[in-house]
Amino acid sequence: MSETFRRDESRSPPRSPRVGPAGRIAYTAAQAARVAWFFGQYALAARISGPNIPRERRPAGLRMPDTRGVLAELRALMERDLANIEAGCYRLPHDLIPSPAKVMADAAAFFRDLPEVTRRRRGQVGTEVRAKPPPGSETLPAYYRQNFHFQTDGYLSERSARLYDHQVEVLFGGGADAMRRHALVPIFEHLRTRTVADSRLLDVAAGTGRFLTFVKDNWPRLDTTALDLSHAYLAEARRNLAPWARTTRVVQAAAEALPVPDASQDVVTCIYLFHELPRKVRAQVAAEWARVLKPGGIAVFMDSLQRGDNPVMDGLIELFPIAFHEPFYADYARQDLGALFAGAGLPVRSVTPAFMSKVVVLEKPVS
Ligand SMILES: C[S@@+](CC[C@H](N)C(=O)[O-])C[C@H]1O[C@@H](n2cnc3c(N)ncnc32)[C@H](O)[C@@H]1O
Repeated sequence: MSETFRRDESRSPPRSPRVGPAGRIAYTAAQAARVAWFFGQYALAARISGPNIPRERRPAGLRMPDTRGVLAELRALMERDLANIEAGCYRLPHDLIPSPAKVMADAAAFFRDLPEVTRRRRGQVGTEVRAKPPPGSETLPAYYRQNFHFQTDGYLSERSARLYDHQVEVLFGGGADAMRRHALVPIFEHLRTRTVADSRLLDVAAGTGRFLTFVKDNWPRLDTTALDLSHAYLAEARRNLAPWARTTRVVQAAAEALPVPDASQDVVTCIYLFHELPRKVRAQVAAEWARVLKPGGIAVFMDSLQRGDNPVMDGLIELFPIAFHEPFYADYARQDLGALFAGAGLPVRSVTPAFMSKVVVLEKPVS
């Protein structure tokens, strides 16, 4: 293979197989089954455990979206996901049709764990992990040592790491992966004019590496770092990213003190972290992105919608932190993110809603 040809190949955008009628039907059928599966589990869990918040604890006068409204928003999300795939921004997901054995095992584990989650939710027990700290966790920041979502062991055990992706999909009615894939669009736009094999992407708070599996679906040669505070979640990420181990680094570190050289990254991504950080730490993390990005590099931020982004969702935004133990979420939901990022030297280039989340693209100025 000639040098020239190799360079051309690495510059090219991901070649999304043209999604013909068969691909479109496969996508639509798979996503319909997915929504039915996860939405069904959300409903079943609510039936088993009772309402997430007892009526007397609900803030008065909240307007909640009805199920039909939420399903319509989910359908619109999936339509945009498919449109992005058809436009060649990214490929059909590698596990569009997941293994039935895994799907069943994950659901069984979720329901086995549910009574423990319900016990914590009923008692509003959000810091149980501090009572029996897993070895090595004592030095982690106090804000982090919580049972976020009332989940068993917080982020501090292998069991929690194994359950996490399934729990998130149940929470979002099967829409979590489609939301995450919306963050691939700005990466596609950024990398299409660059040599992929010479570019670097850092995923901050990578969790189990789920988002990075979609990144790697599309840019397997991209030099990629998965960074997180949780040893257990990173072990899961290492398993999930094993097919791309040659170009993937896994780093246990805090987002507010990245062990990454200045101006070394073309793209920084961060999905569903900021609502779990105190305000002061959010500012430190944003400053770290500005430090490690190359001039002209982008940060692709994804997190929950904030209050007022989509008034239909405002009731859910009020209830979420109470129902899912999210001590910093209410503050996140009203923070001016544009001001936060501008203060760090990262002006906002675009904001794109994606169901219950939004993608915010930030750019480090060239000079
Ligand atoms: C809600 S999960 C999001 C995980 C993943 N990005 C996703 O798309 O699902 C939050 C993640 O942030 C990590 N995390 C929280 N605070 C952190 C910090 N200060 N530094 C690094 N990782 C952190 C947690 O360990 C967890 O994996």
